[in-house]
Amino acid sequence: MIKYPQIIKSLFLCLILVFSSMIHAEKVSPNHNGINYPIGLKNWRVISTSFRTDNKTQRVILGNSIAIKASRAGKTKPWPKGSILAKLVWKNSQHPKWDAAIVPGEFVHSEVMIKDTEKYKTTGGWGYARWIGLSQQPYGKNKSFAQTCLSCHTKAKDSDFVFTMPAKIP
Ligand code: HEC
Repeated sequence: MIKYPQIIKSLFLCLILVFSSMIHAEKVSPNHNGINYPIGLKNWRVISTSFRTDNKTQRVILGNSIAIKASRAGKTKPWPKGSILAKLVWKNSQHPKWDAAIVPGEFVHSEVMIKDTEKYKTTGGWGYARWIGLSQQPYGKNKSFAQTCLSCHTKAKDSDFVFTMPAKIP
């Protein structure tokens, strides 16, 4: 059997990973403002979690490597260019074996905010996008949907339009 050096094996593995994420990216349509579902989002690390008592949902807030670095270093005012924050939302469900445990049920939507002050200056320096349900349908009828996102996120203007406070991790 031919022995390939480790570097070739690693390169080959990288290619497989890149292609498999490209296949995923193609399946999900971009939002009306042209924002694509970020490649590799499912493998990002956690910044925080949150629960909403009004609509009984739970969320995880994830970040790409730029956002994670900034959040761990406490340098989020402002978040650096290229940061992407993602939020995955599920309806609350009761654990079948433990009544008091609330776990993720039906998947509601995924959302992202991409930091680029120039590119997204009409929406406060962040590009907004949302995909509905497990089938990940783009949200909204036209690109003006992002103004709705902005109108609510303006409440968090003093923390760079971001509500999430990175959770303390020991
Ligand atoms: C009615 C108010 C409201 C609207 C409208 C809204 N958001 Fe948010 N968003 C919030 C709140 C409150 C949080 C923090 C609590 C949580 O995790 O749900 C949040 C959190 C987020 C986060 C995690 C980062 C952060 O700021 O904490 C993302 C990403 C996000 N929203 C994207 C969007 C997108 C995309 C839209 C529009 C399609 C949108 N939001 C519309 C209220 C809103």
